[in-house]
Amino acid sequence: MKIGVLVSGAGTNLQALLDAEAAGKLAPAEIVVVVSNRPGVPALARAEKAGKPALVVDHKIFLERAAFEAEMITELEKHGVELVVLAGFMRVLTDRFLDRYPLRIVNTHPSLLPAFVGSDAPAQAIAHGVKVSGVTVHFVDASLDGGPIIAQVAVPVLPGDDAAALHARIQREEHRLLPEVVRRLAAGLVSCQGRLVVDRAE
Ligand code: GAR
Repeated sequence: MKIGVLVSGAGTNLQALLDAEAAGKLAPAEIVVVVSNRPGVPALARAEKAGKPALVVDHKIFLERAAFEAEMITELEKHGVELVVLAGFMRVLTDRFLDRYPLRIVNTHPSLLPAFVGSDAPAQAIAHGVKVSGVTVHFVDASLDGGPIIAQVAVPVLPGDDAAALHARIQREEHRLLPEVVRRLAAGLVSCQGRLVVDRAE
């Protein structure tokens, strides 16, 4: 299954996917293209270093969201993408994009959804004083960090944690979970009935 990875920043989750693929742990998934909505981000350099096509579709140069998404679809289709992975991609997608890849878009988010949506989930967890947070990988719908949940791993919030320390602890789990979910999706082990995800044994 051909995977397109959408990124916006550091790209540590992209790196986890690239490393898993290089180690033979992503098959039958294969990363065929990486698209960033922001130019010059480290994620693009990671993709290039791994020999993957690395493209920029800069949302700022499009007057309308529809045109931005149409351009991304064009690029993904050029590479035959069948499954879209949002790995730190910080734009909400509209129905136009979602309808092109029904149940074929997944996102990773650093909280136990539905708690703490948005770009600062670890900071929200610290501000609320929760004792447990974690990571969620989910199918994507039109809401912010919403859609049927595929997998979650809980991570403790420890005394003295700030948002950066908690995010780093969450990311250690995230970097394991995301490639594993992508592999299981590509292997046809994960399906969705309404809002409930069915995850079959190997
Ligand atoms: C990741 O922790 C991801 O879960 C989060 O952004 C980080 C990107 O890091 N995504 C969101 O907060 C989505 N709302 P990365 O660029 O190093 O993979």
